[in-house]
Order: sequence, then C-alpha cells, then structure tokens
Amino acid sequence: MNHSLMTTYNRLPVTFARGEGALLWDTQDKEYLDALSGIAVCNLGHAHPAVTRALCEQAGRLVHTSNIYGIASQEALGDTLTALAGMDKVFFGNSGAEANEAAIKLARLYGNQQGIKSPAIVVMDNSFHGRTLATLSATGSRKVQAGFEPLVQGFVRVPYGDLAALKAVAEHKPDVVAVMVEPIQGEGGVNVPPPDYLPGIRKLCDDKGWLMILDEIQTGMARTGRMFAYQHYDLRPDVMTVAKALGNGVPIGACLAQGAAAELFGPGNHGSTFGGNPLACTTALAVCNTISGERLWEAAETIGNHIQEGLHSALSDVDGFVEVRGRGLMIGIQLDRPCGELVTGALAQGLLINVTADSVVRLLPPLITSVAQADQIVSTLSSLVRDFLAGQ
Ligand SMILES: Cc1ncc(COP(=O)(O)O)c(C=O)c1O
Repeated sequence: MNHSLMTTYNRLPVTFARGEGALLWDTQDKEYLDALSGIAVCNLGHAHPAVTRALCEQAGRLVHTSNIYGIASQEALGDTLTALAGMDKVFFGNSGAEANEAAIKLARLYGNQQGIKSPAIVVMDNSFHGRTLATLSATGSRKVQAGFEPLVQGFVRVPYGDLAALKAVAEHKPDVVAVMVEPIQGEGGVNVPPPDYLPGIRKLCDDKGWLMILDEIQTGMARTGRMFAYQHYDLRPDVMTVAKALGNGVPIGACLAQGAAAELFGPGNHGSTFGGNPLACTTALAVCNTISGERLWEAAETIGNHIQEGLHSALSDVDGFVEVRGRGLMIGIQLDRPCGELVTGALAQGLLINVTADSVVRLLPPLITSVAQADQIVSTLSSLVRDFLAGQ
C-alpha cells in the first residue's frame, strides 16, 4: 500500500501493467478478463489501435493551446458528437462531474433568466452525479454527501421511476426549472425504469417548460445497445451529459444541449482550461468514429443479451438470486444479500467485476467482448455466485 496517496479508495490488491482488448495483465503477468472496463470507460477495450494511433499522433503534434484560440479537433468532435446525439451544441470539460456542473449551471441560468429567484432541479433517490459540491448535492446517497454539509441548495428529490411523485412536485413547487435523471441508474444498482418513465418525464417537461437533463455518463457511448440510452425511446432531452467512455480513458466530458438550452451560455459564463483540448478531442473523435463506424451498439445489444440470458439460465434456480437486469452491456445481478466479497473471489479467478448498492453484481464489459469471452464471464461468475449463495 502506498502511503503518499489520500485514502479516497479501498483499493483491491492488484496493479495492472498492460492490456489488450478485453484482457489485462498484472505486474506478475497474471491474465484477467475485464468485465468492468474501468467502470464503463474503456468501451473499446484496452490499447485499441484506433485510439492509440490518434493519441500518439496528436501527442506528437500538439497537446494543448487554449480555448481562447480556435481548436480544429474540438470543432470536429463537436460536429460528430452533436450529430450522433441529435443535439445542437456542446461544451467540453474533463470529467462526468464537470459535465453535470455545466448542466446544473444551464438549468440555473434558464431559471434566472425567467426571473425565478431560487431555481430548483428535481433529482432522484439513489442517483449518482459526481463528487463536486453541486453534483454530490444532486446525488441521492447520504454516504456520498455525509461530512460535506452545507450542501448546495436547489435540488428537490423524488423516488426513481416514479412519475406520480414527479407530477406531485410539478403541482406544489413553482420554482422547479429542470429534471436531472440517469436513463438507467448505474451506481444506484443498475436500476432500469418502467418503459413509460422517460417519455413521461419528457411530456411533463414540455408541459411545465422544464429542461429535461439526462445524465448519460455511464449509459452513453453505445453501452446500452444504442449510442445513447435515450435513443431507445422516441424523444430527445434538452440537455445531456457524457463522459467516461467518450475518451476511452483519456479524460473528457461533454454537456450537450438542444433548442433554447443550447443558447443559454454566453462568453464568460463557463469555461475550463483543459476542456476540449486537442489531445482529448482527437482521441474522443477516434472513439466516436470507431463506435459509429462499427455500429458497436449492435454488439452491445447482442453480447449483452447473450450474457443476461446465460446468467439467468445458470442462476434462476438458485436460492438468494433475485434477478438479472440491465440493457445491452450494462448488467446487474441482484442478490438477496450484501455480496461485496464476490469482487475478490472473481479477482482470484482472473475476472474483473464490481458490486454496487451492496447486493448488486455489476458488469460493464467492453463492447468488443467476444462471444467466447462472454461465455467465460457467465461460467466463472455463475459458479462463484452459486458457491457464495450456498455458503452463506
Ligand atoms: C451517472 C454518472 N454521473 C456522473 C458520474 C461522475 O463522473 P466522474 O467520475 O467522471 O466525475 C458518474 C461516475 O461514476 C456516473 O456514473
């Protein structure tokens, strides 16, 4: 254990030295199958040639100038990303939390410009939006917030998936200007909302003049079987945030907007020194082009369904197994008890997984995972889960 690092993470006893595709090797050269992608980041796997090429070529040409100058790769990425997302404009930052900060600032500007003195944003129980002060205040987890009071004001919280609760807020809270929601909750336990939920939010936002803000930081970039999860539905948000897999590991985040929301920021309203620099944008452009060129959302859907079906048939008769849920390659296995120890069990067998919300095994494999690797995930994990549940 290194004593120079602040103890913000309980780290697992492994250090990786290199990777290729869905495989990683540790410093002892032991091989692992990555079913987590650095928590939904390396959607193209490790050392993808298109990403490596873009990164190396750009590093040798120009890493950073400043947003006070034109940046050709930022413009090219902006055009590509807005076209893929069906949005009008984009602001680039460096992380998911920063993308959400931009979205929260847009909502406040939107409210203030209408003369609303204390504009409020509706957020959800069990949500996760980041670790900055505003985004942890928006996050629906006391664990994330505890000790950092006073929290940022201006958030109203309701249960996830509950349209009636949102409608009640619409009746009783005149200062609401926006709803901010994950299309599928990630950290909160891979929670898939009812099919009418996002369309219902869209309609309510239209009726009330609220901004619909989708946090696609975990669900975006083809993870759920569409380029963005909202594309499973016939709707568009007003504001959408993306990060994680946008740079396949090179830090970059984006806040996209359409319609009136796209025109809110003016010069001096927002900014970032590193945001949208040539290195990050060239890399993210290679990521976008690879995902769309290979239509990797289709692979996410096919391999994701294969894994979900495999897990379901291997585990459905086991006591303590509740359900497999998710969409595409965003998969949760709900057990009836806390199961954090499965992470070290899987690690010992060369499989990288995660447990979230105490009792949900979370899988976020790279989109380039092969059928054979998918089968390996299913067989290793289902026997681990069986043994774990039998041994309790
Ligand atoms: C849905 C969602 N929003 C925001 C974030 C925060 O992103 P970052 O850690 O890049 O700030 C995360 C990270 O897990 C996330 O899953």
